[in-house]
Amino acid sequence: MLFSNLTQKYSFLEAWGYDHLIANRALNLHTHILKHDKLTDVLAVKKELRLLDVGCGGGQAALWLKETYPHLQLTGIDLSAGQITRARKRARRKGFNLQFETADAQNLPFPNESFDAVYSFGSAKHWPDPLKGFSECWRVLKSGGELLVADATSDATPEQVKNFCAIMHLPGLLRKPITAMLYRRMFRPARSVKAYRQIAAQLRMPPGTVSHLPSIPVFMFRTQKP
Ligand SMILES: C[S@@+](CC[C@H](N)C(=O)[O-])C[C@H]1O[C@@H](n2cnc3c(N)ncnc32)[C@H](O)[C@@H]1O
Repeated sequence: MLFSNLTQKYSFLEAWGYDHLIANRALNLHTHILKHDKLTDVLAVKKELRLLDVGCGGGQAALWLKETYPHLQLTGIDLSAGQITRARKRARRKGFNLQFETADAQNLPFPNESFDAVYSFGSAKHWPDPLKGFSECWRVLKSGGELLVADATSDATPEQVKNFCAIMHLPGLLRKPITAMLYRRMFRPARSVKAYRQIAAQLRMPPGTVSHLPSIPVFMFRTQKP
């Protein structure tokens, strides 16, 4: 990933480093994005709602969602078996009944129309075949369900990457070198918003599904399935 190719599977060290050093700070980005596009309003409605977190990592966001919206039924999948083991342990420690499975976003092990919401943050840039990944997210989403997929885009200015790192509250000393490293190794090699718009059009998603978030270098697929 950061030390090899963006679409290669995380090494043990990359998964461990993300899990222990970044994931909790990235929760600030999750809340920023969820609030920006008002998925929080949908999730706050008190009814049983099945949500799939695609590329859930060590489960930090899924656990935060469950704590905030206890009525959610959450499933998380990730390609890394190590991350799924960590996610299961975290859920057990909290006494939460969440389902975590090792699986590939490009081949989701669920029947059509299984979920009321499909959410993914920080994972799509790693999918070697993003058309397949997005078509899988679309397939497992119920009609009327909510899609929110967000991740890094190459349409990033250094200033936007700085804003992104500021939201994560990286410690002062590390902020500058990490910002520079992310710009070079994560944002620049990622895909453009234009490429994601082509994917949305190929999958016949509603017009306006893909946007670039204001002031941070993140694209977003946000729509309701007709
Ligand atoms: C930057 S981390 C984000 C983790 C989590 N969503 C978060 O925000 O903390 C990206 C995650 O995507 C996972 N991933 C990469 N390619 C994947 C794929 N094809 N299918 C499922 N997960 C994938 C990685 O294993 C990693 O855990």
